[in-house]
Amino acid sequence: MTECQGDGAGGITPMELYHKLSEQGDNVRALKSDKAPKADVDAAVQLLLQLKLDYKLLTGNDYKQGSPPTEASVTQDNGPQEDGEDQVDPWNVTTSNAKGVDYDKLIVRFGSSKVDQELVDRIEKVSGQRAHRFLRRGIFFSHRDMHQVLDAYEKQKSFYLYTGRGPSSEALHMGHLIPFIFTKWLQDAFDIPLVIQLTDDEKYLWKDLSLEDCHRYAVENAKDIIACGFDVDKTFIFSDLDYMGASPDFYRNVVKIQKHVTFNQVKGIFGFTDSDCIGKISFPAIQAAPSFSNSFPQIFKGRKDVQCLIPCAIDQDPYFRMTRDVAPRIGYPKPALLHSTFFPALQGAQTKMSASDANSSIFLTDTPKQIKNKVNKHAFSGGRDTVEDHRKFGGNPDVDVSFMYLTFFLEDDEQLEKIRQDYTSGALLTGELKKILIETLQPMITAHQERRKQVTEETVRKFMTPRPLNFQY
Ligand code: TRP
Repeated sequence: MTECQGDGAGGITPMELYHKLSEQGDNVRALKSDKAPKADVDAAVQLLLQLKLDYKLLTGNDYKQGSPPTEASVTQDNGPQEDGEDQVDPWNVTTSNAKGVDYDKLIVRFGSSKVDQELVDRIEKVSGQRAHRFLRRGIFFSHRDMHQVLDAYEKQKSFYLYTGRGPSSEALHMGHLIPFIFTKWLQDAFDIPLVIQLTDDEKYLWKDLSLEDCHRYAVENAKDIIACGFDVDKTFIFSDLDYMGASPDFYRNVVKIQKHVTFNQVKGIFGFTDSDCIGKISFPAIQAAPSFSNSFPQIFKGRKDVQCLIPCAIDQDPYFRMTRDVAPRIGYPKPALLHSTFFPALQGAQTKMSASDANSSIFLTDTPKQIKNKVNKHAFSGGRDTVEDHRKFGGNPDVDVSFMYLTFFLEDDEQLEKIRQDYTSGALLTGELKKILIETLQPMITAHQERRKQVTEETVRKFMTPRPLNFQY
């Protein structure tokens, strides 16, 4: 029995199981058409049958491709949080565990695959670059179809990157940079084009903000994104409010997606209710559209078959489960994904850093002094109450936010390991650990501020103008 059995509280929802089945059906078809060894096909068919059985048990209905579970059987992915259950969706990330969300469980629940050592080694081999620390340290921990992307790349079939940001305020914090830092590395390592969606429309629909404010935030946020070092010849940044109206091909894809996803389906995935405005209900199609290369004719010359890879935080996965489900039905390849963990709040890994709580975040505009104060005052410590106890029993790096931040930003693996050992043994005190973090963050953020100052209106305009990019296929 697969793990979805049970009362539905801690297990998989009908919609999640439906997605798993749809993926497994595609797997079986791919194996058959590749004339894979009989044993592999048999194993895949076996799993498919098992999933179908689970589906029947869970929903009372037979699985049918293209028909998501019906109203009565759909329990929402993001319904009320059960005790002990991590909540992870595009709007909420919380857990009762001080070490943070259980990411291995999330892989099982979402039906994605673990980024294991073998995949990290392959990325190094294929790109010819040392793996980024986010890969070496399990920060990008989950994926969909990365092996296919690498197989094709080895055969000179390139791909493009797609990521995004919802511009809900002018102030970005450090957590917001994680996907962009990594995407920049991927762009350089594989020498590929990148599109960045700024969902000013999404923020208008979800927040109490005016259209003009959302659009202004999009342009302001673009400056911070550009300051991460993207190559203007290979990067297109767009605001939905501008690009939707300017690109007939983009809008055609939005409509195609809208036609192939039912209200019932998005309700199951996103938890929309009858009182949500219709803008929210159709928005997922707009976040899905950049996954298809012919949404950008100026870059891909009308080709619809260029593979897309999406680096994003795991909370965005529901959008792309939906995207991967519709893709084959409208004749497009499914986007591949690389998922990151969350960037913990200063107060602890029970929740992620949030821009709306100033004390939970270190902002990209903070001064060296503010950084020092926030870390010293608010960073949750895994140390002991007294120096004597700390020396005697040692600290716990697994719940210590300063140590967690160092795993994100300290480049040197050996130095990080030494800090971990010394903190665990009690040789390193909390104040000393915090000092290392402060001295790592201050120059990083000052350098970001310097680079952002160099970004002129003219530079922003260049990045945001639809135009051909340097791309050979
Ligand atoms: N919805 C995302 C947010 O609120 C923004 C976004 C749009 C995005 N497209 C994306 C994020 C693709 C990651 C990948 O932040």
